[in-house]
Amino acid sequence: MDVDTGVDDCIALLYAVASPEVELVAATCCAGNVVAPRAAANTLAVLELAGAGDVEVALGSLAPLVAPLRTAVFHGPGGLGYAELPPARRAPSSRFAPDLLAAEARRRPGAITLVATGPLTNVALAVRRDAELPSLLRRLVVMGGSVDHPGNTTPTAEFNVLVDPEAAKSVLDAFSGADPRPLLCGLNVTEQAAFGPEHLQRLAELAGSTNAVVRLVSDALRFSMEAHDRAGVGYVAHLHDPLALALALDGSLGETRAGTVDVELAGSLTRGMTVVDWQGLWGRTPNADVVVEVDAARFLDELVGRLAALARRAG
Ligand code: RIB
Ligand code: CA
Repeated sequence: MDVDTGVDDCIALLYAVASPEVELVAATCCAGNVVAPRAAANTLAVLELAGAGDVEVALGSLAPLVAPLRTAVFHGPGGLGYAELPPARRAPSSRFAPDLLAAEARRRPGAITLVATGPLTNVALAVRRDAELPSLLRRLVVMGGSVDHPGNTTPTAEFNVLVDPEAAKSVLDAFSGADPRPLLCGLNVTEQAAFGPEHLQRLAELAGSTNAVVRLVSDALRFSMEAHDRAGVGYVAHLHDPLALALALDGSLGETRAGTVDVELAGSLTRGMTVVDWQGLWGRTPNADVVVEVDAARFLDELVGRLAALARRAG
């Protein structure tokens, strides 16, 4: 997983650790929700609390490829909402994240699914290190963009892509021709993954409200829920990153449509916009499997069940 651990990245990491079918090879960290060192510290602390303190966590690029770094405000001062975790006992790995991504894909060709839930800076740099990365990975899954749907950071741009649009464009270009095509999970579906008080209630009933994992989930997501409520969206948290991971594990949770996706770089109003050519008007081969429908209720049920099992085990 390549993460910018913030609130929903934290939940995605917990979901990965909670999923018996997942071998979490490593967590590589980029700047986005928070500065990269903070993302790495959060990732180390979350994995340790979840009983996965042995997973390699590597620091990546401190800044986007070209754009000046902009971080988010929707994740609280430390990036985990109201959650304050004890600092991890471990430090990040000595490996630079893009080097790790390239090395692990080459070491285990066809075996690793890379789930990117932050800006794509590290993935773009990894492709520069090994141009064969797209064919060495089993699949690339991206939480990013917004397809035929508004943005969440500008009217047209989703946060991960807007933080580093050059990286997003570079990655989409590099992975054109990958088989299977990258799976693109944009706001058009991730905003349907609305985690509410009833989900927190069920988690607490299943694993106990004082359980350390339950408290982390509750303290992290409560910050997002309050921010969304203030924004008039309702007292919910959109679980963008966990949904992307869940779709990587179980494609039956969603429906995809092959499309040609590109990223606007120049538009003063539309920079960071993901544009999808469904009809082949650009004369280019589709370069992504775009998630267009999702069974949000089944995803949220699965998430609560798996987090509860993890909480009972680790908390
Ligand atoms: O736009 C949502 C995405 O931006 C999520 O990955 C969230 O963690 C932030 O990085
Ligand atoms: Ca993220």
